[in-house]
Amino acid sequence: MAVGIDKLSFFSPNQYIDLTELAKRRDTDPNKYLIGIGQSEQAVIPASQDVITMAANAADQLLTEADRSEISMIMFATESGIDNSKSGAVYLQTLLGINRYARTIELKQACYAGTYGLMQARDYVALNPGAKVLVVASDIARYGLATAGEVTQGGGAVAMLVTENPKVMTLERDSQFMSQDLMDFWRPVYATDALVDGHFSQDVYREFFKELWQRYREQTGRTIADFQAFAFHLPYTKQGLKALKDILPEANAEHAEHLLAEFEASRVFNKRIGNLYTGSLYLSLLSLLVNSATLKAGYRIGLFSYGSGAEGEFYSGLVQAEFKKGLINEQVERLLSERRKMTIEQYEKNYGQALNGPLDREIDFKDDPAKFVLAGLVNQQRQYINQQ
Ligand code: CAA
Repeated sequence: MAVGIDKLSFFSPNQYIDLTELAKRRDTDPNKYLIGIGQSEQAVIPASQDVITMAANAADQLLTEADRSEISMIMFATESGIDNSKSGAVYLQTLLGINRYARTIELKQACYAGTYGLMQARDYVALNPGAKVLVVASDIARYGLATAGEVTQGGGAVAMLVTENPKVMTLERDSQFMSQDLMDFWRPVYATDALVDGHFSQDVYREFFKELWQRYREQTGRTIADFQAFAFHLPYTKQGLKALKDILPEANAEHAEHLLAEFEASRVFNKRIGNLYTGSLYLSLLSLLVNSATLKAGYRIGLFSYGSGAEGEFYSGLVQAEFKKGLINEQVERLLSERRKMTIEQYEKNYGQALNGPLDREIDFKDDPAKFVLAGLVNQQRQYINQQ
C-alpha cells in the first residue's frame, strides 16, 4: 500500500528582519550572510506566537471537517516546547477541533523529531489502512543577539497529513538512519537560547549525510542518477548546498546542473524564513514542490534529516500526479508578501520579550493577524485565542 504525505502546509508569523540590515548593524559584509550563509531574511516571532499557535495556524489550513473527525493520532515535533510535561499535541487537539479519540504525543530529538514522526505515521497507516495521522513540526530557533548563530535564527511550523494513496508524495521504505552521542548543539532545560559548537556542527552534519548516502547506495543499489532532486534540513541554506556538492561529483555534468537548479527551488522559502529546526526539511520540500519547474509524477526526491546531538536519516519519496492539489501553498506566498519588516532596533528591543515578564501576564496581540494567538498567561496557564 502506498502511504505518504497527502497534504502539506506552512505557517510563520507576520514579521521579519532583512539580513543585509542586520549585517550592517553587526559591522559585517552583507555577502557573508547572503552568500556565505545563504540567508536573505529572517522570521521574527512575536510574543503573541509560540510553537503551539504556529503549529495550529499551519495545520488548520489543511484540515477538512472530515479530517478532524477521522484523525487517529497527532504527533507534535519540537525542540522549543512550552511545557516539560504536557504534550503540545493535546493543545492542538483542542484548538483544531480534532476528535477526542485521537492519540496525542510530543517528540524530541533536536531538528530530527519531525522525521521520526513522519516515519511512525507511515508505519501506523500501513498497519491501519484508512487511518489519518497529523504530524506537525514547530520551532523557534534562537541563539542570542550578536552571536555567530544569530544569522541562522528563524521560526515557523509545517503540518503534514499522512494517509494511504497520498496526493503529494509517497514515503518509500528505504530509510537509512544513524545516531551518535555528541555535543554539537544543545539547550539545557534552564536555557532559552541554544548552545552550539558551530563549526563542529557543520562538519557532523556533512559527515552524517555522506555516511548515510553511502549506506543507502549499498543497501538499495540506487545511484545519484535515480534522484531527480534532493531536499535537506536547512539550518541555513548554504549547509544543504555543501552537502549536495559533496555527492555531486557522482553525477554527470547535465544531471549535476539539474540537481543544483532543483536545490535552488528547494531553498526559496527557507532563505526568507531562516531555521525552523524540526520543520526545516519539510519547508524545503514544500519550497521544492512549489518552485521547481520540472518535478512531475514518479520523480524520486532524496530527503536528508539531521538533528544535532545527533541523529540523521536519509530516505526517498516519490512525487505523485496530483501533488499540487495537496500543497496549501497560496497561503505561503501571501504570508511572505504581507509580512511586516522590523528595523534592527525594533528587533533588538523586542528580543526575548516573549520569554520575560511576570509569570502571569497579558500579551498584546492586536497587531497579529493570525487565526490562533497567545493572549497571555493566567495561573501560569497559556491562554490561546481563536480570532476568527
Ligand atoms: N562573502 C561571501 N562569503 C563569505 C564572506 C563574504 N564577504 N565572508 C564569509 N563568507 C563565508 C565563509 O567563507 C563561510 O563559507 P564556507 O562555510 O563555505 O567556508 C561562510 O561565509 C560562513 O562564515 P564563517 O564560518 O566564518 O561563519 P561564522 O563562524 O560566523 O558562523 C555558523 C557560521 C557556524 C553556521 C554559525 O552561524 C552558527 O553557529 N550557526 C548555528 C549552528 C548551525 O546552524 N549549524 C548547522 C549544522 S547543525 C544543524 O543542522 C542542526 C541545527 O539546525 C542547528
